[in-house]
Amino acid sequence: MFPSFIFVGLAISIASGGQTLNTCNLAPKGSPYFPRNFSFGVATSAYQVEGGWNSDGKGPSIWDDFTHNNPHLIDDSSNGDISADSYHRFDQDLAALKELKVDHYRFSISWPRIFPNGDISSRNQKGIDYYNDVIDKLLLNGIEPMATMFHYDLPSEIQKIGGFANALIIEKFVIYATELFEQFGDRVKLWMTFNEPLIYCKSSFADARYPPQVDLSGVADYICVDNTIKAHAAAYQVYRSQFYDRQKGKIGIALDSYFYFPMPNETESVYRALQFNMGFLAHPIFHKSGDYPDIMLKEIESNSLREGRLTSRLPPLKGYWKNIVRHSADFFALNYYSSRYLRRAEKPKGMNPSWERDMDCDEIVDPSWMQAVGSWLHCVPEGLEGMLKFIRDEYDNIEVIITENGWSDKGTLEDDNRIQYIKSHLQAVLNAINDGSNISGYTYWSLIDNFEWKSGYSVKFGLYAVDLMSPKRERSPKKSAYYYKEVIKSRKIPNHINEFS
Ligand code: BGC
Repeated sequence: MFPSFIFVGLAISIASGGQTLNTCNLAPKGSPYFPRNFSFGVATSAYQVEGGWNSDGKGPSIWDDFTHNNPHLIDDSSNGDISADSYHRFDQDLAALKELKVDHYRFSISWPRIFPNGDISSRNQKGIDYYNDVIDKLLLNGIEPMATMFHYDLPSEIQKIGGFANALIIEKFVIYATELFEQFGDRVKLWMTFNEPLIYCKSSFADARYPPQVDLSGVADYICVDNTIKAHAAAYQVYRSQFYDRQKGKIGIALDSYFYFPMPNETESVYRALQFNMGFLAHPIFHKSGDYPDIMLKEIESNSLREGRLTSRLPPLKGYWKNIVRHSADFFALNYYSSRYLRRAEKPKGMNPSWERDMDCDEIVDPSWMQAVGSWLHCVPEGLEGMLKFIRDEYDNIEVIITENGWSDKGTLEDDNRIQYIKSHLQAVLNAINDGSNISGYTYWSLIDNFEWKSGYSVKFGLYAVDLMSPKRERSPKKSAYYYKEVIKSRKIPNHINEFS
C-alpha cells in the first residue's frame, strides 16, 4: 500500500487537530513523459448533457420523472430537459473535442432514446441515428468513441416492474446491449456496461436520494448490485460469443471508490473498507475467486443471522453466475475523485441494516485538504496513486483506463484549482505508470458543465462553460481547457499553470 510514513504523518496531523499539509501536489517519480500510446480523453453522460428529453420519440427515464415530479429535491429546482442541448448541438461538443485534440471521448447512450419503453418492441430509429452521427463524426476526426451503455437514466417502464431490484433487468439489459453491439459495434471498440453501480444502487435503493427513491437499505441495494453484476456478465458473454470475432472490441464496467488511508493502527480497516467499496464489484469480476469479497460475505451473513433472517442479505454468487462473472471485463474502468482517512467505527453506523452498518468504519476528512464545491470532494492525489497500486496488486496488474476524474467549482473561467487538481492527479497516474502499473488512458470529467444530479447546475465540473441563458448554449473554454490541451500536446505535465489563460 502507500508508504506508511505518509499515513502516520497525515493521520497524526488529524489526531493532533490538523496541521496544514501541502496536499493537492505530488512529487514526480521517474520519467516525466506519458507512454506514446497513452490515451487522453474527456467524458460526459446522456442525461447530464443531451437535453432533448422527449425529442424524436425518446421515452421518459426515471430521471425525467424524478426531476419533473420533485423539483424541490434538486438544489436549483432544475432538470435535464434541455441541459447543454448536446442532442441538438453535438457539433459544439465536437468543436471543443477537436480544440483539445483528445484521443478519446467517453459518452453514454440513453437507453430510452434507443428503446423508449425499455423494450426492443419500441426500437427508435431516430435515437439510433443520433448516436451513429456522434460516432461517425468522432471517428472522422480521429477521436476514439468510448461508450457507456447505462449511466443512471433507466427507462421509466422498466422501473415500473422494479428496475434493478427485479432480476428481469438482466434479460432486458442483455437485449439492449445486443442492440448496441449490432448497431454501433462495427465502430465502437471500447464499451462500458454500467457506470458506478455502487453509487446508483445505494442512492436509489438504500438512502432514497436518487430515483426510484426506494428506502430498503442493506437489502435492496445489495439486490441491485447482484442484478447489475449478472447483467454485466451476461452482456459480456453475448459479446464474446456473438460479436467479438468480427468486432474485436473491449468491455469494461466503470467502478468508483474513495481510496482510504489508515488512522494509526488501522491498516486492516483500510483493507476492509476497500473491499466493501471497490472490491464489492471488482472482486467478483477481476479476482480469480469469482465471488464477492470474503470479508463482505462473512460479515453480512453473520449480521443477517443475528437479525433473525434465514439467509444472508448478500448471498454468494453460485455455479453459472460465478463462472460467467469471473473475468467478465477486458480492462479496469476506474472513476476516482477523492479519499478519506479510516478507522473501525466507534459506534454503530447508519441504519440497521445497511451497507454502512455492515462495513462498520468511520470515514474522516483531513481539514487541510483542498475542498471543491460539494462537501464530498477533496483533492487527494495520493489516493489515486494508492488506488492504482491496490488494483495492480489485487487484480494481477490488469489494464486500467481512468474513465473519470474531475473537480467542481461554481463556474469561474479562471479555474486554477481545477488545474491544480488535474496536474496533481496526472502526476499520480504517471507515478503509478513509472512504478509498473498498466494504465492506458485518462479521462477528465467533464468536457462541459452539465446537470450534476441532485445539485442541478449549481456545481460545475467542465473544462468548458455552457451559457445556460442562451438558446444556443455556447461553450467557452476555461483556463483548464488550455492546460489540458497542453498536456495532450506535450504528453507530459506542464509545470506552470499561470501561462494558460
Ligand atoms: C458520475 C458523474 C458525476 C460525477 C461528479 C461520477 O460519480 O459518474 O455522473 O457527474 O461523478 O459527481
